[in-house]
Amino acid sequence: SSNECSFTYEEYKETADWLQERIKEQPKVAIICGSGLGDLANLLENKTDFLYKDIPRFPQSTVHGHAGKLVFGKLNGKQCVCMQGRFHFYEGYSIAKVTYPVRVFFLLGVETLIVTNAAGGLNPNFSVGDIMLIKDHINMPGFAGQNPLCGHNDERFGTRFPCMSDAYDRDIFRLAKDAAVEENCSSFLQEGVYCMLAGPTFETIAECKMLQTLGADAVGMSTVPEVIVARHCGLRVFGLSLITNKVVMDYASEERANHKEVLETTKRRAVDLQRLVSALVAKL
Ligand code: 6GU
Repeated sequence: SSNECSFTYEEYKETADWLQERIKEQPKVAIICGSGLGDLANLLENKTDFLYKDIPRFPQSTVHGHAGKLVFGKLNGKQCVCMQGRFHFYEGYSIAKVTYPVRVFFLLGVETLIVTNAAGGLNPNFSVGDIMLIKDHINMPGFAGQNPLCGHNDERFGTRFPCMSDAYDRDIFRLAKDAAVEENCSSFLQEGVYCMLAGPTFETIAECKMLQTLGADAVGMSTVPEVIVARHCGLRVFGLSLITNKVVMDYASEERANHKEVLETTKRRAVDLQRLVSALVAKL
């Protein structure tokens, strides 16, 4: 059951206190870098970093291409903490472990969470390489009983039944649009609904058609659990998806969703994404 894999306030606190003793300045913004997007952490100035494996009670990374580090420092003048490498449910982590870092960030005094991910494009108007500002989400694993807030509710983090209609902060959304114009990203900027599936399989054609019908614009295997836990404890949230590939919607198509295309597109757009996030952070 979900109770077997939840953590106590004291456990999160132990991690937060350990980090607090070792950092010079309190971060105001936390950034979770998606697959292939971890180079953002290298832009931080005055860095202090910690390997996940050295942080008490922190989950450990397993996937290649994920460095598995927490990086503290200044990004464009703002004190930030960057997760270089996130935890995915499909790797076998419980949803509690996937979201563990978010409550640690809250205890460190973080006010804003920025999430990035690689996603498949469902919206026919999207192109590979587009950046989608996340307006809303669909929590598919939640429908299947995998909501990170299942189990005992500790009021020190938040309320039993949190509102999710305002999950993605509208003011930050507007600032991100301004940042996109300034950073010459408007020509490949989109907005839409991100749908999380557990993965690790990519979607069947029937599943893609279903998700389109449900109003999803992009599909991925991350982000939503972290956003829910962040909203529960009152963090403001902003998210963006890099459309790394288009989902296959047609039985006659010879195209196949594959991880190689995901990594190639992230490589091509990584710098634009970094500039956009960096410009946004300065506006917060
Ligand atoms: Cl096509 N599907 C899912 N579930 N995740 C993805 C993706 C597709 N492309 C990148 N990440």
